[in-house]
Amino acid sequence: MFDFGPDPSLATPERYRQLSDAALSLTEGESDSIANMANLAALLAEFLPDLNWAGFYRLIGDELVLGPFVGRPACIRIPLNQGVCGAAARSGETQLVEDVHAFPGHIACDSASRSELVVPIVRDGQVIAVIDLDSPTPARFTQEDAAGLEVLAVKIADRV
Ligand code: SME
Repeated sequence: MFDFGPDPSLATPERYRQLSDAALSLTEGESDSIANMANLAALLAEFLPDLNWAGFYRLIGDELVLGPFVGRPACIRIPLNQGVCGAAARSGETQLVEDVHAFPGHIACDSASRSELVVPIVRDGQVIAVIDLDSPTPARFTQEDAAGLEVLAVKIADRV
């Protein structure tokens, strides 16, 4: 059994530190990227409060394809010129969206989503996937979330 449950009173930076430690421990020695992304999605959902979707899109050819996630069923393929995920994969830059309704081209997979954080995963200089977090709360994500998720994305880049 794995029991990585975080202390609910943790400050955000420490929460991401513990999440990163748990992520490295859980994926250590496992070469199957789908298995690792599945466990990482479960960890994201367990460690980060107030999410309605947490998971991965993988860059395959010229589009993003749905990977393991926790949440409601989601759009399967996202062209790079669409959505918050497409913007992150295209630019290689984190997208922190306080109000998804104000983001041109936002793709509403779950109508409950109000804010979103998408961080690219880069390996050998190329974007290979993105981590996508959605929240039902407007402006749920801060720069601390972005910084914490970016560190995680670097640490897991060779495990997904
Ligand atoms: N909202 C995303 C699509 C993926 S779902 O949120 C799971 C976007 O605009 O790219």
